[in-house]
Amino acid sequence: MRYAARALRQKDSGFVIYYPDKMEQRLFNEAEASLLEEIILHRRDVRGNRFLQDEISKEVVDKILMAALHGPSVGYSQPWEFVVIRDRKVREQIKDSFDAENTRASVLFDQEKSEKYTRLKLEGILEAPLNIAVFYKPAKAVVLGQTSMKEVGLYSVVCAIQNMWLMARALNIGIGWVSILDPERVKKIVQAPVENQLVAYLCLGYVNEFLDKPELEILEWEKRKQLSQVMREERYPDAEVADFCVRPVAKELSAALEHKINFKTKPLGALGKLEKIALQIGLIQQTLEPELKKPVIVVFAGDHGIAKEGVSAYPQEVTYQMVMNFLGGGAAINVFCKQNGIDINIVDAGVNYDFPNGLAGLSRFKIGYGTRSFLHEPAMTIAEVKQALQCGAKVVNDLKAQGSNIIGFGEMGIGNTTSASALMSVYCGFPVEQCVGKGTGVDDEGRKRKVNIIELAIRKHGAIKDPVEILATYGGFEIAQICGAMLRAAESGMVILVDGFITTAAYLIAQAIQPAIKDYAVFCHQSGEQGHGRLLEYLDASPLINMEMRLGEGTGAAVSYPLVKAAVSFLNQMASFDSAGVSNKEEAEKKG
Ligand SMILES: Cc1cc2nc3c(=O)[nH]c(=O)nc-3n(C[C@H](O)[C@H](O)[C@H](O)COP(=O)(O)O)c2cc1C
Repeated sequence: MRYAARALRQKDSGFVIYYPDKMEQRLFNEAEASLLEEIILHRRDVRGNRFLQDEISKEVVDKILMAALHGPSVGYSQPWEFVVIRDRKVREQIKDSFDAENTRASVLFDQEKSEKYTRLKLEGILEAPLNIAVFYKPAKAVVLGQTSMKEVGLYSVVCAIQNMWLMARALNIGIGWVSILDPERVKKIVQAPVENQLVAYLCLGYVNEFLDKPELEILEWEKRKQLSQVMREERYPDAEVADFCVRPVAKELSAALEHKINFKTKPLGALGKLEKIALQIGLIQQTLEPELKKPVIVVFAGDHGIAKEGVSAYPQEVTYQMVMNFLGGGAAINVFCKQNGIDINIVDAGVNYDFPNGLAGLSRFKIGYGTRSFLHEPAMTIAEVKQALQCGAKVVNDLKAQGSNIIGFGEMGIGNTTSASALMSVYCGFPVEQCVGKGTGVDDEGRKRKVNIIELAIRKHGAIKDPVEILATYGGFEIAQICGAMLRAAESGMVILVDGFITTAAYLIAQAIQPAIKDYAVFCHQSGEQGHGRLLEYLDASPLINMEMRLGEGTGAAVSYPLVKAAVSFLNQMASFDSAGVSNKEEAEKKG
């Protein structure tokens, strides 16, 4: 009944606490619901000098703890206990534990993050006038609901804590949750029973400011996830690749980078695409002085079942023979890499050949001896695709660990233009005819045959929407590994050099999985292979060069690399109007 509830609210001088036993049928109106939303959105974790020293009255502390008592708990077990700590000496002992644990924690991150970590203020144990230790007290008897998932008692305590956090916020009191503590040491300090488990150590106080975003977001430690990233309809899709999370690059530096580019001694925009690349790499690396470290081209090789259907001018053996050629240093990609100071890495993603042991420069990530022919069945299973994606990611992890921050992707696999054409046609919905070219050089008859085979396959497999399923059906081991490698490279903040038609098809799927990958991709060239131009257009990608090359292997990326280097060099080395004492256009205009 509304009236009973209203009366209670007035009596409590504006604070809204309802006790279920005094409620009959409480219905909330829209304004009240949006108030709760406000409280949820404006709750913040509070640390350090944001706390004021003002005492919190016992009455208010009780209100906050009352909110905890009304938290949901498994089997109504209410397995929580609280220790309210005001004594500074006790808090000093707790702070000692924090300091010790925090020092230990600071070295666990990579170097860059570690430095950032040490600058963070992660508690307010002494600054806040009051601390509350929250314990889980395990039940001695069987608890309804806790018979299968043993941890639900703990989860119940967390529910209670969240109630406290929200109630405190409604009372304009900030809470900071400190978990960088040795729980056993805290237990000893407050003389907690041995069976109790410390769940939270909370610092409470009135504050000088509630930030409008999490402090860790403001300090660019983490970003808030979008609802679409964490929500699935009905179930996780079979083929979901949950392991990749590519974040869009932070754009805050854009203005400073643009300013730096625009104030170089040149007319505005006169370095054309180089300026765009300079801006992009500055944003990827989040610096005004980007650096290209240990550039590397990885050539992923794999065989294709579809090659058996006569879609290539070359027999399947050419795949392994070319791998041997790469390892021997005699292929085009070797020559261009050598010329441009790029390392080269060859990966056996699934070549139909047993390479002898001891081949230097060959990474072995063989998923199988070639895929199945997609004319008859899906080229790969979902499990194989997932494995391939992980293998690609592993290759990139290793290169990153060796200090590389820019990777070009190349491929070798007889039959793989057919695979790429099918991926493009199915994913983009373009007619097969527009996606098929001559590949290694089949004649018109051969091209028609490729079109025909892909059309037959599409009819057989039907409409597929999920990008990973499309990849499994029509892709290849090397294409899937490139896809995983690109995703991991983007996830790790590296620059991705996209080569020709096949790597762009791999990229297409990678972008479908994680759209933010686009921020990290430099499209190196437009291949002579029919379909590539259309695919680049679909991706709204503007390649650096068009040399009518259609060799694959990563050659387009290797040849374009000096342009990427030029972009970074002018940004770092070119004089600005100021440094060179040259008048710029604006000044000239001002002087009249
Ligand atoms: C279980 C848990 C433990 C936490 N431990 C710490 C901690 O030790 N130090 C800290 O500064 N923040 C800690 N936090 C606070 C989070 O960093 C904070 O909630 C998060 O950054 C989101 O910010 P917001 O609470 O202001 O929305 C913890 C939060 C939770 C839920």
